[in-house]
Amino acid sequence: MVLYYATVVIAATLAIPISFPSYFFYKGGSWSFNVFNLCASWVDVSVEVRNKEILDSVKGPAVVVVNHQSSLDIIAMGKCWPDKCTVIMKDSLKWVPGFNLSAILCNTIFVKRFSKHDGPNPALEQAVEAMRKKGLKIWIFPEGTRHHSHGFLPFKKGAFNMAICAQIPIIPVVISDYAPFYSRSNKYFRWPGYAIAQVLKPVPTEGLTYEDIPKLVENVRDQMLEEYEKISLEAARRHEIKNGEAKSE
Ligand SMILES: *[C@@H]1O[C@H](CO)[C@@H](O)[C@H](O)[C@H]1NC(C)=O
Repeated sequence: MVLYYATVVIAATLAIPISFPSYFFYKGGSWSFNVFNLCASWVDVSVEVRNKEILDSVKGPAVVVVNHQSSLDIIAMGKCWPDKCTVIMKDSLKWVPGFNLSAILCNTIFVKRFSKHDGPNPALEQAVEAMRKKGLKIWIFPEGTRHHSHGFLPFKKGAFNMAICAQIPIIPVVISDYAPFYSRSNKYFRWPGYAIAQVLKPVPTEGLTYEDIPKLVENVRDQMLEEYEKISLEAARRHEIKNGEAKSE
């Protein structure tokens, strides 16, 4: 993990000069992730992305919601990251030296403060305006923080608020449980790792209002959880088979 973190730092530093031109094309983080994929090619964790074409087929703004397990998610992000996709951050992060430059080059959208309430608010409108102008998708972890054990935390509403405010689709992406090869609490990390990242069908929000948010959140989370259980089982089996083969060799 130490080497992995070092790779993240090195990749982020290299990405600053290399991805510089992408800023002007509103390419979001895609060039930076290409740099990361290259730097992290020694990490033997393979992520099989399914239905990636869905992410590419949605042109223009969308909210991509993804479950968040660990810093290893960056590997899955590098494999799934759609063209013209970025993240939203608090304004205060604009002043973290070094980091701020990378963030700006990835077309990060900075907002003053997130509101905990449903309904329109200046930060939300500011973000939506920037997404529309630049045709950017936003990648959000709706759990709000990493969740190291099986399952999901409750989803925060920000992503859904934004999708409804902009009347743009939500694209759920589910990453299978890393448990077969990684556990933070047990300090366990063993190669080779295998995970599945499944892109689900976009959920339209046209015509929905802020009152529909609780239902929408529940619906998206349930869909994701169901898929998560399925692909986690599959990934665990696949891992077992691979390891069994390795032992018998
Ligand atoms: C990044 O933050 C530093 C320190 O606060 C600041 O001096 C610098 O201007 C910022 N860089 C950009 C590109 O905003």
